[in-house]
Amino acid sequence: MKNTIMFLLLTWCTITSQDKGDLRGQVFSFPEEYASSYARLAPLLSKPLSSATICLRFYTDRLGSISLLTLNITGQAAALTISRHSPGYQLLIEDKAIFFYGFPCYLNKWNSLCTTWNGSTGMSQMVINKKPSVRKVAHAGGSLGANPSVILGPDKGSFMGHITDVHIYDYVISPSEIQNYMQGNFLRYTLGNYLNWGSVDYSINGYVLVEDIKTLNSWN
Ligand SMILES: *[C@@H]1O[C@H](CO)[C@@H](O)[C@H](O)[C@H]1NC(C)=O
Ligand SMILES: *[C@@H]1O[C@H](CO)[C@@H](O)[C@H](O)[C@H]1NC(C)=O
Repeated sequence: MKNTIMFLLLTWCTITSQDKGDLRGQVFSFPEEYASSYARLAPLLSKPLSSATICLRFYTDRLGSISLLTLNITGQAAALTISRHSPGYQLLIEDKAIFFYGFPCYLNKWNSLCTTWNGSTGMSQMVINKKPSVRKVAHAGGSLGANPSVILGPDKGSFMGHITDVHIYDYVISPSEIQNYMQGNFLRYTLGNYLNWGSVDYSINGYVLVEDIKTLNSWN
């Protein structure tokens, strides 16, 4: 009986925990490949997005498909998803997927990724480790619904590794801001006005841990 209660408590604790705070210098670690292990972040603004920039850094040892970030709107199909399905990175907006090819797949190393989307023209681009993709069109004239949650890690796919420095802006940030983000020094870039890693409200489902970035022994 006592064991059962302990087990239930442990299970409950790993299934959801709510927190709020400054995650700079911290990472979300996804140590097991469970589709049910993800972090849910609440945006700072509740308005629909008619343009966006999404920046994050990830660290993985997976060569195959990985899900990185999803903007999920309750009761609707995912509004926007960023994932990698080798050999390309995919941006899915509503039901239109576009792929960006030709990026090397760096394993066991931090990868910095920014995606920009201008909703009026639909022009989208990914910049990964300072390398800019071709600009392509996704969902021109569209906007993304209000009040999404930002899901890190698997929504439908899977992810294993670490994610940090997630910033979302409700506009297309300038090339020099993207370069500043790619340098990795958080004092030098503008923090997201839609989602700011320095002040984030989040909950965790499944086995995801918040760890100090130093515990990774990663110097790149
Ligand atoms: C995202 O939204 C879809 C559709 O509403 C839902 O099936 C899925 O469970 C949601 N994912 C999360 C992690 O909330
Ligand atoms: C979207 O692109 C159009 C045409 O280049 C430009 O006028 C507009 O300012 C852009 N919007 C954003 C949010 O960058």
